[in-house]
Parts: sequence; C-alpha cells; structure tokens
Amino acid sequence: MNYKITNGSISYGAETILEEIDFEIKEKEKIAVVGRNGCGKSTLLKAIVNNQMLEEGIGEEKFGVYKQGSPVIGFLKQVEFEDESTSLLEEILKVYKKQTDLERRIENLEKALKQETSDKLVKEYTNAMDMYKFYDGYTYKKEYTTALNKFGFTTQDENKKISEFSGGQRTKIAFLRLLLSKPDILLLDEPTNHMDIVGKETLENLLKEYKGTLIFVSHDRYFVNKIADSLLVFEKNGAKYLNCSYDEYIENREEKEELFTTKKVKNKNNEYILNKERNKIKNKIKKLENEINANDLEIKRIEAEMQKEGINTDYVKLNELQEKITALNKQNEEKLIEWEALENKLS
Ligand SMILES: Nc1ncnc2c1ncn2[C@@H]1O[C@H](COP(=O)(O)OP(=O)(O)OP(=O)(O)O)[C@@H](O)[C@H]1O
Ligand SMILES: [Mg+2]
Repeated sequence: MNYKITNGSISYGAETILEEIDFEIKEKEKIAVVGRNGCGKSTLLKAIVNNQMLEEGIGEEKFGVYKQGSPVIGFLKQVEFEDESTSLLEEILKVYKKQTDLERRIENLEKALKQETSDKLVKEYTNAMDMYKFYDGYTYKKEYTTALNKFGFTTQDENKKISEFSGGQRTKIAFLRLLLSKPDILLLDEPTNHMDIVGKETLENLLKEYKGTLIFVSHDRYFVNKIADSLLVFEKNGAKYLNCSYDEYIENREEKEELFTTKKVKNKNNEYILNKERNKIKNKIKKLENEINANDLEIKRIEAEMQKEGINTDYVKLNELQEKITALNKQNEEKLIEWEALENKLS
C-alpha cells in the first residue's frame, strides 16, 4: 500500500485553504497531523478520503493522486450514527456482515439438511463452513467482546441503544466499529476529544498495537508522542513532514531545521503570497539561465565566424564582431549578478 498526492490544492469557494500539497503515506506508517486551529488539518484528512476535493496546485510538479492497491480508508470524523435507536451490539455487528450472513446461511442449510440430504446441499454446507472459518467466524465474537471490554463496555451494554450512551461513549463505539473493520488506512480527527482517561489509555494501547497505516490529528502532545512515528506539522510557512517524535521536533525546531525533510503541504494564510513570490523568482531564474545560455551560444557562433576565411583578415569586421562579444559578455555578467541575488533570496 502506498498513497501519494502531488501538487494538489484545496479551496472552499474562492479561498484556497491548502496549496501545493505534496504528501506521501507509506505502508504501516503512523503520522500525526499537528498545528494550530484552522490551519487545514481536518481539510487534509477529508481530501485523503474524498479526492474530489483536490485540484491542481501552483507547484511545478504534475498534479496527481496515486494509490497502490486500492486501499480501504476508514475515517473517524465527528461521531455520527445513522440510527440512534440501534443497539451497541447491532452497531458492532455491522462490521461483521460477512460472518453474520454466513451464520444465517449455515443455519438455513442445517435446517434444509434435516429435511433431505442431497449432494448439492452437503456441498453448499461445507462451502459455507469453509468460508465461515476463512472469515474468522469462530473468533470474531471474541475479538469484539475483548475490544468492548477494553473500553469499559459490559455484556449488558450490548443491548443498550446508541442514544442511551454519553458523547464520550459514542466516540468509543464509533472508534471501535472503525478499528474492528480493519481499514488499510485509518484516519482519525482528534480521537481523544470527549474521551475520559480510561478511554484515552485504551485508545493509546489499541493504536500502538494497530498494524495498519494511521493518520491522526491531535492537539495532545502526550498522545502524539506515544503513537506517532512521523509528523506532519503545520507551521507558519506551510506544513512539513518530519520523521521524528513530537518531542524531538520541539527540541530541534530552532537550531536544526535542516535535519528535516520538507514535503510542502503549504498552507495558505501565511505562505500563499510568499509562495507565489517564490514561484515568480523561480521563473525569473529560469528565464535568466536561458538568456545566459543563449548569449553563450551566440558568443561561440561569433567566435567561429571570426575564424572564417575572408573574415579573419578583415579587421574592421573583426573589430565589429569583437565588440558584439564584449557586449554579450557584459550582459551575461549583469545577468549572473541578478541570478545570484535571486538564488540567495530563495535559499
Ligand atoms: N466547509 C467549509 N467551507 C468553507 N471554509 C471552510 C470549510 N471547512 C473549513 N473551512 C475553513 O478552512 C480552514 C481550515 O479548516 P480545518 O477545519 O481544516 O482546520 P483544522 O486545522 O482542522 O482546525 P482545528 O484544529 O480547529 O480542527 C479554516 O479557515 C476554516 O474556516
Ligand atoms: Mg479540525
């Protein structure tokens, strides 16, 4: 599994929220997205799920979203339940639809087999039993009861309606449902919000053990330190991808900036102008380089002309050509000074 966005941008109406998104998610990576309120963390997560939100950014690279192996993405945003009158158990069992469907089929086949035993029915029955085993039919109940217990839910709770649980409990249920469905990429937007200490600790342990790829937004430094192995930090000048813990980032951010690789998920408010300016400068540099090269070629051409028979003895012509070369060299010197100044601006 690998997921990559190059040179994307996201706007709400006329307002660009994120520009030049250049971001790669590697298999089994646990990335924390951190940064001040309103910088675009939730927006980025939403766009990872819904690529329709992405448009071409202002960078030079080609815009694209690359997904290897069509990964299943699970996203915990605000806690929502379609129907609050379903019970906790019913909610959890939605994750295990394959297994519960098979149970029903096996039950029906067993009934049918009591009436008559045909080869066809026996074959169907063995097939269903094989499938049931393949989909962990014998262990899935243990899987979810253990998870529910970890979050402090009892067997009695299983029949309670969703509407009867508190906000924190509902977050836990939504999270459990998502975790048990085992997506390839798990996206969590501030999962510790509304969770009590027990919930937080459980969440922490489950996420530490979690084998899939995880991207989560959090303002909780302690939580980020525990779980994340890399960071996407939104700073004043855009977002950076850092392959270190949050504490290491805080320790090093002043003096060791260059340690970190920047993956530019640039964020608008502060960087927009700056970034546009940078692109203008980059274009100017390119233009200058082309002009210098063209002048160099012209100088070579003139030098070759000066060697030609008939011209190499014509001093008036030679003088004229030499003057042209001097002028071109002078131009290039000036262009080089300008080029150097622009390069310095960029670094
Ligand atoms: N549906 C929308 N329409 C217009 N603007 C939006 C919409 N959603 C978010 N925004 C704006 O986009 C910017 C980024 O919002 P986003 O919710 O991604 O920030 P955030 O980093 O998740 O913030 P927080 O830490 O408060 O959750 C904000 O300026 C917000 O006002
Ligand atoms: Mg948010």
